[in-house]
Amino acid sequence: MLGGMKILFTGDMVGSAGRQVFQRVTEQLRDEGQIDLVIANAENGAGGRGPSADIAEAILNAGAAALTLGDHTFDDKTLIPLLETDPRIVRPANLPPAAAGRGMTTIETEEGPICIISLLGRVFMDPADCPFRTADKLIGRAHAKTIFVDFHAEATSEKIALGRHLDGRVSGLFGTHTHVQTSDETLLPNGTAYITDLGMTGPKDSVIGREVEPVVQRFITGMPQKFNVSKKDLALEGVIVDVDISSGKTRGIERIRKRA
Ligand SMILES: [Fe+2]
Ligand SMILES: [Fe+2]
Repeated sequence: MLGGMKILFTGDMVGSAGRQVFQRVTEQLRDEGQIDLVIANAENGAGGRGPSADIAEAILNAGAAALTLGDHTFDDKTLIPLLETDPRIVRPANLPPAAAGRGMTTIETEEGPICIISLLGRVFMDPADCPFRTADKLIGRAHAKTIFVDFHAEATSEKIALGRHLDGRVSGLFGTHTHVQTSDETLLPNGTAYITDLGMTGPKDSVIGREVEPVVQRFITGMPQKFNVSKKDLALEGVIVDVDISSGKTRGIERIRKRA
């Protein structure tokens, strides 16, 4: 019998509320036998900002086998040494070559190695190297048949295009960054699992994680506001992918949103 592994990928974790719902829901899914492994996007893990070293370690200890990041990678400088030393933490690969940390990593699982790549989009985002060419280069160097890409990008078109460009060459490509889950999860024609955005692991009663009223006022008045992370209506969002680790072949993708 082929060994299939069920891997949960979770969308941008926002604040202590996000960490709380992450821990509760992943424990429950594990107890129910629905998942074997968890890979989390942790880019807003600290009050909506990038995680500190302590917070990154807490998320790993809460059950994440690896963390991906995004445009908030360097918000907290205590994370920088950990980016260099802990192979479970991946920051975007298409940053300048001198940036701290790694953009691709390999983690060992019971069924074999998994390679994880993080990339930033370039549409409506700060400058970064070309994610398409960076992905081509990194896939050529991967030491695993199973490769997953977290594409941290704003534009749906850019995410779909990179998914199509990598179709059949990676086991899955999942969008992050918008904090809004899309309903287009699918296996692409050549077998790559794909979703435009995993969504958010945090407070749903919010504007992409922040308390509603100050964000609305900011848009109406154009005046600065303090954006606190909301704590209301917590949910974990992401996908569960069923993959044969030895071949990298994906058998299915299921979108999830679970409240706690
Ligand atoms: Fe985010
Ligand atoms: Fe982001």
